[in-house]
Amino acid sequence: MSKSVVEQVQETVAFLRSRYPETPEVGIVLGSGLGNFAAHIRVEAEVPYSEIPHFPVSTVKGHSGKLIFGELAGKKVVAMAGRFHFYEGYTPQEVVFPVRVFKLLGIRQLLLSNAAGGVNPGFSVGDIMIINDHISFGTPNPLVGKNIEEWGTRFPDMSEPYKKSLIARAREICSEAGIDVREGVYYAVTGPTFETRAEYKMIHTLGADAVGMSTVQEAIVANHMALDVFAVSIITDLGIRDEENVITHEEVLEAAKAAEPKLAHLFTEMVARA
Ligand code: HPA
Repeated sequence: MSKSVVEQVQETVAFLRSRYPETPEVGIVLGSGLGNFAAHIRVEAEVPYSEIPHFPVSTVKGHSGKLIFGELAGKKVVAMAGRFHFYEGYTPQEVVFPVRVFKLLGIRQLLLSNAAGGVNPGFSVGDIMIINDHISFGTPNPLVGKNIEEWGTRFPDMSEPYKKSLIARAREICSEAGIDVREGVYYAVTGPTFETRAEYKMIHTLGADAVGMSTVQEAIVANHMALDVFAVSIITDLGIRDEENVITHEEVLEAAKAAEPKLAHLFTEMVARA
């Protein structure tokens, strides 16, 4: 019989503890173009996903990812350099597997980041947006299926998916550093297509400020497991321009890279004050 998710996560955690015996306090997920942030971590162990039991197997050629364990701002952290997206063909359960592993490794707080398209007309490319809520009708809910009672309740409350106290802390950090920061609602889509002009407009009409292909499934599972979640979008393109509106993956990566120092400062300080 195939192993239950609980057994799989437990085996993965046991394996990772054999590679890195310490308990990370904060988990970090690095979004597209934001991998450079890993350079700020004093690395104590690196484990390629391909070596980790039960981790989703990448089918994309040249797609490598790894877990990085180490110290940041005096605290033990674990970071995912490369995440799993639903559009790559992973099931929602595979997408969130690492978050469940992080929780059982002992993290208290989860910091998520992503590259996103801006649909708020006041936004510019390179802005950083604290996510204060999300709309998730676009991607399947990873909690569909038999509930794992030992991890969380059948019907999790989602009134505060992104912890208000962490949002306040992030605003304080940005204000101290003179970083102009936005705040808003993230709309999750499956991708891999970028949105049509009509879709960007609709997403804004529905009350969102940014749109992207990740993060929400991870945030849902983290809430289910009672982790404190904080998430940030880097606005890498604008979906609401009236003129020619061609968006490319290269443009997204470039804009994310350019904004990475702001994210690095924010995440480093979030960890320092965690
Ligand atoms: N739409 C969806 N996902 C994205 C975008 C976008 O415009 N930009 C970066 N990720």
